[in-house]
Amino acid sequence: MGFKIGIVGATGAVGRTMLEVLEKSSVPVSELRLFASERSAGQILTFRGADVRVETLTQEAMREGFDYLLFSAGADVSRRYAPIAAEVGTTVIDNSSAFRMVPEIPLVVPEINGHLLKGYRGIVANPNCSTIQMVLALYKVHDKYQLHEIFVSTYQAVSGAGHKAIVEYERQLSGDDSHSVFVRQIAHNVIPLIGDLKDDISQEEWKMINETKKILNSKALAVFPTTVRVPVRIGHSESVIARTLFPIMSKEDLIETIASGEDVVVHDDIVTPLEVAGDDYVHVSRVRLFDAQTFGLWVVADNLRVGAATNAVRILKLHSELNNPTVEREVEEVERR
Ligand SMILES: NC(=O)c1ccc[n+]([C@@H]2O[C@H](COP(=O)([O-])OP(=O)(O)OC[C@H]3O[C@@H](n4cnc5c(N)ncnc54)[C@H](OP(=O)(O)O)[C@@H]3O)[C@@H](O)[C@H]2O)c1
Repeated sequence: MGFKIGIVGATGAVGRTMLEVLEKSSVPVSELRLFASERSAGQILTFRGADVRVETLTQEAMREGFDYLLFSAGADVSRRYAPIAAEVGTTVIDNSSAFRMVPEIPLVVPEINGHLLKGYRGIVANPNCSTIQMVLALYKVHDKYQLHEIFVSTYQAVSGAGHKAIVEYERQLSGDDSHSVFVRQIAHNVIPLIGDLKDDISQEEWKMINETKKILNSKALAVFPTTVRVPVRIGHSESVIARTLFPIMSKEDLIETIASGEDVVVHDDIVTPLEVAGDDYVHVSRVRLFDAQTFGLWVVADNLRVGAATNAVRILKLHSELNNPTVEREVEEVERR
């Protein structure tokens, strides 16, 4: 026995990574279905040695009922299709920004607030990639010393903007300097704007501000981000300066506290995105204690894995451990008939 699982947006940068992460995971899968737009319908992808044909996403397919649907096809697609799937009892793990700030929808990083999945059915929101790696680096310090201010500058990889962005970047590397995905040329450049501005703050910055407070369950926490796109293929980096309410005992204690976080590794030497692309950990280096209540970190992680696919599959695994999705869905189907 295994789960009936579907990936919506399976041909995208995150969708393909989800397929890879799920393949290597211990999750038992009895049926896997892959969905994209009609542009990619008919493409064949492989999963655990079997060919799987990509299907056009339809409302009908969403009404079939799955144990889990992993959505990664943008907010508009999620808004239109995820509620249909959830209505028939499917647990939807949504990578887009569509439902993250809806109060009754859990925004989950399993290592931090996975308990929210117990007894929960419906749509679960996967946070923004920059937010996930930052909160994983910080959550143990927050537990012990209570964070009250975070100043963060991000150095975000082009793959964070999807498959088209990678293609644009690679075209520019070979001499074509035209751009349509990014607001400026990204090859040999950096762009201090990700998403549109609202009240001087970019969409990506708003996500870091609001999602961090929701995940760490702290309305009083102030987050001051500057989000920047850099010419790196995979792997977001962040320079984080944070202040705590209570004094930190020592630098050694700070390091130990950060390293006690699940899936977090603290290094003596520096760590760069190129070194971590393809792995599932948050890497912290350049730990500095400026004064008893102010510290600095350099945080690096694979945005497609830790920031998206791995977090989604971790949600799926923990949800299935805490609940019994197949039995619940079957009972619901019988009741509907
Ligand atoms: N990239 C990251 O690091 C990252 C991290 C966290 C969250 N996210 C979020 O994940 C989502 C996907 O991002 P991505 O980077 O993987 O984008 P992407 O590479 O552009 O992939 C988009 C996927 O969605 C599918 N799609 C687009 N329109 C569709 C429609 N109308 N119906 C069905 N499928 C449709 C595409 O299918 P076709 O092949 O048919 O076009 C493709 O499979 C976004 O919401 C993004 O914000 C991305």
